[in-house]
Amino acid sequence: MSAVVVPFEPRVEPAASDDREVRGEEEARPPCTLVIFGASGDLTRRLLAPAIAHLLRDGAVSPDFAIVGLARSEMSDAEFRAYLEGGAREFTPPTQGRPGELPPTVRYLAGDFGDPGLYDRLKSTLDQIEGKRPGSRNRIFYMATPPEADPTIVKFLGDKGLASPDQGWARVVVEKPFGHDLQSGKDLNDELRSVFKERQIYRIDHYLGKETVQNIFVLRFANGVFEPLWNNRYVDHVQIAVSETVGIGHRAGYYEGAGIVRDMFQNHLLQLLCLTAMEPPVAFEADAVRAEKVKVLQSIRPIPENAIDEWAVRGQYGPGVVGGKKVPGYREEEKVDPASGTPTYAAVKFAIDNWRWAGVPFYVRSGKRLAERVSEIAIEFKRVPHPLFSKAVGTLNPNVLRVRIQPDEGVSLKFDAKIPGTVMQIQSVYMDFPYNKLGAPIQGGYERLLLDVTHGDQTLFTRGDEVEQAWRVVSPILRAWEGHPATDFPNYASGTWGPESADRFLEREGRRWRTL
Ligand code: BG6
Repeated sequence: MSAVVVPFEPRVEPAASDDREVRGEEEARPPCTLVIFGASGDLTRRLLAPAIAHLLRDGAVSPDFAIVGLARSEMSDAEFRAYLEGGAREFTPPTQGRPGELPPTVRYLAGDFGDPGLYDRLKSTLDQIEGKRPGSRNRIFYMATPPEADPTIVKFLGDKGLASPDQGWARVVVEKPFGHDLQSGKDLNDELRSVFKERQIYRIDHYLGKETVQNIFVLRFANGVFEPLWNNRYVDHVQIAVSETVGIGHRAGYYEGAGIVRDMFQNHLLQLLCLTAMEPPVAFEADAVRAEKVKVLQSIRPIPENAIDEWAVRGQYGPGVVGGKKVPGYREEEKVDPASGTPTYAAVKFAIDNWRWAGVPFYVRSGKRLAERVSEIAIEFKRVPHPLFSKAVGTLNPNVLRVRIQPDEGVSLKFDAKIPGTVMQIQSVYMDFPYNKLGAPIQGGYERLLLDVTHGDQTLFTRGDEVEQAWRVVSPILRAWEGHPATDFPNYASGTWGPESADRFLEREGRRWRTL
């Protein structure tokens, strides 16, 4: 099968200080400087460095792209360059070919984010870089920082006039976690909006950068066959799963206070749910798409805190074997409290109270140290209204449309077929579209998302009200669980599919978790 190439026309946001009309080559590849706060951290090395190197290799960004890293640790410009190059080499999967060279301008500034002098040095560094490309004071401020640092950085960017360059645009990229709860999420929004306008703010959720996640839009809205079935007349329920084999690694400092609900549900899983449940947007552009996602979140029925067990199950991994290797339990991980009550697994039922989804439960689960790394969305359709083949050999199964997010990317439809022979024997078969048949290798999400920031396209970024709605949805779960510590942790062994209570939870609903 030959690859289908769809011409890509980047959108450039119109108006105001972001404000200049830009055209032609510059429109497609505007020269800009990526300023990374938290430049010596894991995210920069593991995710940003390879993405930048791939974009430069592919000629997707201007050769005048420049990088300025800021962090507390001392490093020279050359050492920072070597750090990024090491990250690009180490974290470029073999299928992606060789990472490209970094741009000629890579600078590094060591300092404390609370020190005003650091921002003066940043200003003069930007002046030097931008002096060589007149008219293009375009800046991306990337917060690869813990959320506590964000308000200080944002305040100084505002105070020092860095957020509104006179000849060009400034955009700020904010990583998750976006706050710790609804109130801190709102506070962070207020702080960002006191310096930046909403159209300058890019709240990143790397799941939206995944090809297979973007393909949900295409599957649903570029095809006529699925949408008529995509509602409570035909769908019995939806299962969304993000199962991971990794533990928390060295991230106890963050994860102990976060847990699975803040780390995965408030963002990635609710995004998958929104894309699955949303109405067709009026256009494929930022505000139209995000408005539809906000409506889904608004329609999610508040989970009653006092009946949490009917809606959600939590778990924490104990020791076990993953991929043939013995691994410690969560409480034995480096820097984790030996009596920690932090959940590393959750399964939640969401009810979407709107016209399309009334009565169709969305079962969403995710966990660390599970048996396999698999993410998928499964739409399970209702059974046929009348069992015509009740005397046939074999059980009749419901149709299932499976959107395989990773690692075996693709889409498949399960349906029943007659096995050739003289008796009526029925068996499930699959129509399968493996994503790798399209030829081009699937990149990590960061390439696409960084590129969209340079183009001023916010479609794949979460809007302020959307993030707040997502916090509203998960808040009762957090409150209920944090108010009542679990008494049975650890309740699943590493390398299994999670706690038994999760199986019983779905059995009570008359359903079963899909085998991943
Ligand atoms: C991150 C979470 O946002 O997503 C991690 O903080 C998680 O805990 C990761 O492992 C999963 O991303 P992916 O792309 O590997 O599925």
